[in-house]
Amino acid sequence: MSRKIIVIGSINMDLVTSALVFPKAGETLIGTSFLTIPGGKGANQAVAAARLGADVSLIGCVGDDLFGKELVEHLKEQRVSLPDVEPVTHTQTGIASITLAEGDNSIIVVPGANYHVTPELVAKYEDLIASCDTMLLQLEIPMESVEMAVKIGRKHGLTIILNPAPIAKLSKEILLNIDYITPNEHEVVELLEGLDEVQRNTLKEKLIITKGAKGITYYKNGNEQHIESYPVEVVDTTGAGDSFNGALAVALTTGNSIDKACRFANAVGALAVTKLGAQSGMPTKEEVEIFLNSKRG
Ligand code: RIB
Ligand code: NA
Repeated sequence: MSRKIIVIGSINMDLVTSALVFPKAGETLIGTSFLTIPGGKGANQAVAAARLGADVSLIGCVGDDLFGKELVEHLKEQRVSLPDVEPVTHTQTGIASITLAEGDNSIIVVPGANYHVTPELVAKYEDLIASCDTMLLQLEIPMESVEMAVKIGRKHGLTIILNPAPIAKLSKEILLNIDYITPNEHEVVELLEGLDEVQRNTLKEKLIITKGAKGITYYKNGNEQHIESYPVEVVDTTGAGDSFNGALAVALTTGNSIDKACRFANAVGALAVTKLGAQSGMPTKEEVEIFLNSKRG
C-alpha cells in the first residue's frame, strides 16, 4: 500500500525582486534582478514532498490568468497531482511580492484565487482525503476551510500537520484535532498567547518550532528536545519552513519516529536555504541523502 499525502492550501506566483538595500517608504531605487518563481505555502509544501518521492495531491485554486496556467503546468511537472484545479473565472492567481535585500526578505501576499478554496470545495474532496494518510495545512486560505479540512481529516484518521503561517488565531477544534503544529519562533509566541495552562500543555506535545539558524525545538512526554541546524551558506530563506513541513510529512507518513522525522526535515530545510526561490530551491531525496552522508563521513 502506498502512503499518500494531501496538501490543502495556497498556490502563488512569487515576484522576486533583489536589491542591495530595502527601499524606504516613498523611495525609488534600482534593483539588481527580478524573477517569477512558483510559490505559495500550499504548493511549496506539496512540491517539497513530491521532490522527496512522495505521492502528493494538492487541493487549491488559481485564477484564469497566465500565472494560473503556468503554475498548474509546473505543479504537474513536479508530479503533484491536482484533482481538478479549475481556474476560477474573473479572479487573479495569488501572488507574493517578495523583496530580497540585506540578507533578508519582505513579503506582501495578495491571496486572489486562494480565497476561493472554500469549505465546500474542501468537503467535495472528502473521498480523496479519506484515501490519504497525512494532511498538510497552512493559513493562506480561509480559516473556515482549514477548519473543514481538520474536521474531515480527523474523521478519517489522517495525521494532520498544521503550519500556522501567516499566524492567526486558531479555534479550539483546530488545536484539539491536529497532530502537529509547526510555528516559527515568532509565530509560537502568538500561538500560545491567550491559551490557559491546560491548553498550553496539550498543545506543547504537538509543537515543533522551527528557529532558522537556531535549529528545531519539539517536546516529548513534556521534555524539550532540540536539534541543531546545519551550518550552511544562506542564499534565500523563502520557503524554508515549507520545505521543512513537506519533508516532515514525508518522513512521518513513511513511518519514521518524530525524532527521525525532525532530523530529516531539518536537513531538507537547510538545503532549501542554499538556493534562490521557494520551490526552485527544494532538494530531491538523492540530494538529501548525499548531504546527510557527507555530514556523517
Ligand atoms: O512560505 C513562503 C511562501 O509564502 C512564498 O512562496 C510566498 O508565496 C508566500 O506565500
Ligand atoms: Na530557497
